[in-house]
Amino acid sequence: MTSKLTIRRPDDWHLHLRDGAVLNAVLPDSAAYFGRALIMPNLIPPVVSAADARAYRDRIMAALPADADFAPQMTLYLTEGTDPEDVAAAAADGLIAAVKLYPAGATTNSDSGVRDFDRVRAVLERMADIGLPLCVHGEVTDPDVDIFDREAVFIDRVLDPLRRATPGLRVVMEHITTSDGVAYAKAGGDDLAATITTHHLIINRNHILAGGIRPHYYCLPVAKRETHRLDLLEAATSGNPTFFLGTDSAPHVDALKEAACGCAGCYTAPVTMPLLAEVFEAAGALDQLESFTSLHGAGFYGVPPSEATLTFTKGAPVDLPRRVPSDAGPITIFDPGFPVHWSVTP
Ligand code: DOR
Ligand code: ZN
Repeated sequence: MTSKLTIRRPDDWHLHLRDGAVLNAVLPDSAAYFGRALIMPNLIPPVVSAADARAYRDRIMAALPADADFAPQMTLYLTEGTDPEDVAAAAADGLIAAVKLYPAGATTNSDSGVRDFDRVRAVLERMADIGLPLCVHGEVTDPDVDIFDREAVFIDRVLDPLRRATPGLRVVMEHITTSDGVAYAKAGGDDLAATITTHHLIINRNHILAGGIRPHYYCLPVAKRETHRLDLLEAATSGNPTFFLGTDSAPHVDALKEAACGCAGCYTAPVTMPLLAEVFEAAGALDQLESFTSLHGAGFYGVPPSEATLTFTKGAPVDLPRRVPSDAGPITIFDPGFPVHWSVTP
């Protein structure tokens, strides 16, 4: 029985760090386990320009613990007013690693996102020229489409036409949640990748809705039925370099989650690595944990895998942290609902 495991230090290719009090509270958790993280730009107001990204990166660096080995990879929030030259200059400076596409209204703070894709065509073409990835929140916002179908419909109506119209554009399907997403990502070429979250490997929609409504399992895209989770698990543990970790760890203070209209987001950063060890071991794929968390994403983004390591130890069930305090209020940490035997020494 494996009881110790050492892997290269992982990267989180989809992370919400927020700002101010919440940034200060959550940053140490990601910095403890991850060497790099792709930082989502959906602040209020959003990170839309190179100047915004530089200022946000400075705030993150100022909030980092002194001894941290953590490099934030910044993104810009794509709007219908985004200037292709600003994007190209930010990429050339090494300031940004990707641009994020939110269909307007799809999720938290997405109101400034894209409604008319013709209006962002010039930016997408420039990104294809320079090889800068587009990270896509893949859900349609049409209120007539059932929320459980929004990812599959997005692939047909938006993503596939967009990729055909912009040959060479490198695309990351963010936080895929369906068998349809897995199949589409597998069929794409080297220009297409997909991130998978920790929580979508663990929960299905019953966890949110059966036996009482559990707001801390509500996120977007919402977890689907069990067959989809099993396909995500197969993809994550398969060794296919198309798939890699993006936790989508998305902290909201409890008052905003436990409400009549609660915010979407699961806060997984403090427990993600022990949970993934448990999940991969249960799937008989502990040997693929490193490729999913530390190699495939670096390969897609064209950065070297970390030279540092993270060591896991297996023993008696561990007491997972439940909550992180912040000056804005407590933030509940994702509870997997099963015992976890792996602990991690950063
Ligand atoms: O659950 C989510 N929370 N999904 C997103 O796409 C956004 C995120 C957030 O910012 O809270
Ligand atoms: Zn996200």
